[in-house]
Amino acid sequence: MNHILQTMLERGSVRSFDPTQKLSPETLETILKAAQQSPTSISGQQYSVIVIEDEAQKDKLLEYTMSSSGLPQQHVKDCSVFLLFLIDFHKTDLVLKKEGSTMGIHHGMEGLLIGSVDVGISLGAATAAAEALGLGTVAIGAIRRSAEDIIKEFKLPQYTFPVVGLCIGYPLDNIKPAPKLRLPLSSFAHKAHYQVSDLNTLLDKYNKEISESMNAPDFKWTSFIASFYNRDYNPHLLALYEKQGFKI
Ligand SMILES: Cc1cc2nc3c(=O)[nH]c(=O)nc-3n(C[C@H](O)[C@H](O)[C@H](O)COP(=O)(O)O)c2cc1C
Repeated sequence: MNHILQTMLERGSVRSFDPTQKLSPETLETILKAAQQSPTSISGQQYSVIVIEDEAQKDKLLEYTMSSSGLPQQHVKDCSVFLLFLIDFHKTDLVLKKEGSTMGIHHGMEGLLIGSVDVGISLGAATAAAEALGLGTVAIGAIRRSAEDIIKEFKLPQYTFPVVGLCIGYPLDNIKPAPKLRLPLSSFAHKAHYQVSDLNTLLDKYNKEISESMNAPDFKWTSFIASFYNRDYNPHLLALYEKQGFKI
């Protein structure tokens, strides 16, 4: 099979990095170029990345990405580079000013959606590029819990917003985890129209299969997901979007 496809099909998040092994500047630039070359709505490029390699800055990130139970995410510190992905309409605002126009896209949900989609595609491209180069990656959404600190620390201007981070580095002892089992493909790829009928059965089947694959008989995926999505776990962000200029 094609090497890149194989790395995509076998990918699993890496959370143990060798802190002594660093990416070369050339490798980092290749990953950044792949991330920037991703598709972008109307070619508007409403995304940016802050490249974080400095140890003191990574210490700050470790603090900002504590898990909800107060545990540090050590992979944030041990990875070689942390890419902080932003929605970026700051550049867009300059573009409109250049044209003697006034930006309005940030007044609706559409702006946040466009920016988030651009960020997600770019994150996927950076992940695929890093994995194709034999590196390990894990995305970090926990940055949004401390989004206000992150905005201050990394000097993020108006009309930008931090969405997700990506740890990239060399897996410790060169060990990559086995890919994590997904729901059956038919729950994701619906033929011709949305198929609701089998979903409940598929969820039961998946609960059983994933706990077996993890060798964790007490693990129930549906309970795990329910424990996150039974509330809005980042309600403070609404006011912060406004503060950053997104007047939704
Ligand atoms: C947007 C996003 C945010 C994530 N945030 C975190 C995080 O803060 N910490 C972490 O350890 N993993 C995080 N992950 C990784 C997921 O937990 C992981 O992708 C998921 O469990 C599936 O496992 P896999 O990537 O090994 O297939 C995140 C993934 C995504 C896409």
